[in-house]
This record gives sequence, C-alpha cells and structure tokens, in this order.
Amino acid sequence: MKICFATHNLNKLREVKQMLGDRYTVVGLNEIGCVDEIPEDGVTLDENSKIKAQFVAEHFGVNCFADDTGLEVEALGGEPGVYSARYAGEEKDNQANMKLLLEKLKGKTNRQARFRTVITLILDDIELQFEGVVKGSITQELKGTEGFGYDPIFVPEGHDVTFAEMSAEAKNRISHRGRAMQALVSFLQG
Ligand code: IMP
Repeated sequence: MKICFATHNLNKLREVKQMLGDRYTVVGLNEIGCVDEIPEDGVTLDENSKIKAQFVAEHFGVNCFADDTGLEVEALGGEPGVYSARYAGEEKDNQANMKLLLEKLKGKTNRQARFRTVITLILDDIELQFEGVVKGSITQELKGTEGFGYDPIFVPEGHDVTFAEMSAEAKNRISHRGRAMQALVSFLQG
C-alpha cells in the first residue's frame, strides 16, 4: 500500500522507509507533487501534525502521516515546545536557538527537559495520533557535532553524553521520533 510521509526531509524519509519494510511504499511530499511548505500555524504539536496530515489528505487524496516535534523545558514552562524551530527567530537558526535557551536557563538548577514527537496518521477514514517522548536534561554548554537542532545541549536520561555525541543509530533507538515511529510502525504492521 502507498502511504505519504508529509516531509521534505530526505533523512527522515529514508529512516521511515527502512522501518516500514516492503509492506508499504512510503513516498515523500516531492513524490506526490507537493513542493510547497505546508502551513504550521497550530499552537500545539498535536495540532500541527494534524494540520499537515489533513492538508496532504485533502489536497492530494492519499493516505498519509505527518510528524511534529518540540523540546519542552520544565523550568521554562514547556518552552520552546511547538516553537522549537524558530525559538530565536524566523531564520530557524539552531545555534541561535541553543544560545537563547542556555541564556534563559542561566542560574536555574532545574535543567529537566524532554523531546516530544506527535505523529498523525490518516488512513482511509481513520485518523490516529502516536506519541514518542525521551526525557533528559539540558547541559551548561554545547557538546558534540552529530545530529541537528538542540542535540548538542540535550543529554537523554540514563546517559552521560549529549545526542550530538551519539551515533545516529544509538540516538534513533531511544529518541522521541524513533519511539513515535515505532508506535506507528507497530500499528501499520498490525
Ligand atoms: P520538526 O517538527 O521535526 O521539524 O522539529 C522542529 C524543531 O525541533 C527542529 O527544527 C529542531 O529545532 C527541534 N528538533 C526536532 N527533532 C530534534 C532532534 O532529534 N534533535 C534536536 N532537535 C530536534
């Protein structure tokens, strides 16, 4: 069965194609002719992943799923959350985002945080959501060069290195997105 993953990110697409094996033909947005950025104007991760999935289902008439992720920092009341990509501005600058977050946490002893991914699946007439969470803490400074986003300042619980100091495989095994994808894959594989 053909299913669209509502993303332009080729790394995410490759990862999911591997996970879903040959029972599903996973295609990205480019492959269904959707070259535009889908508006993400929701105020929660749940809303944004739903908006993206519904956009694709309505405009392109295909079964699909969409994800949305945010870093939720306890001492900041869940910030940056749904605004993770553009925390320090519309340029979506990872370095500036991390700098701002570390500044806001200066002097705070509670460094607890979690990454959360929500996936919305639209399959024929059903709509379902899956969630993946990884708890951890925010470092005092950047460490490591792997990954992307906030990886250099996030240490997952039970580890003493940041996501940016882990291999992609090690990160994917325990990550928010990996866990949400696993839940989706288990459902799709029945
Ligand atoms: P998206 O919903 O996957 O586009 O993620 C939104 C933003 O959250 C990204 O632009 C990153 O800043 C951050 N983010 C998402 N996933 C990760 C991750 O695995 N590591 C670090 N930051 C992430």
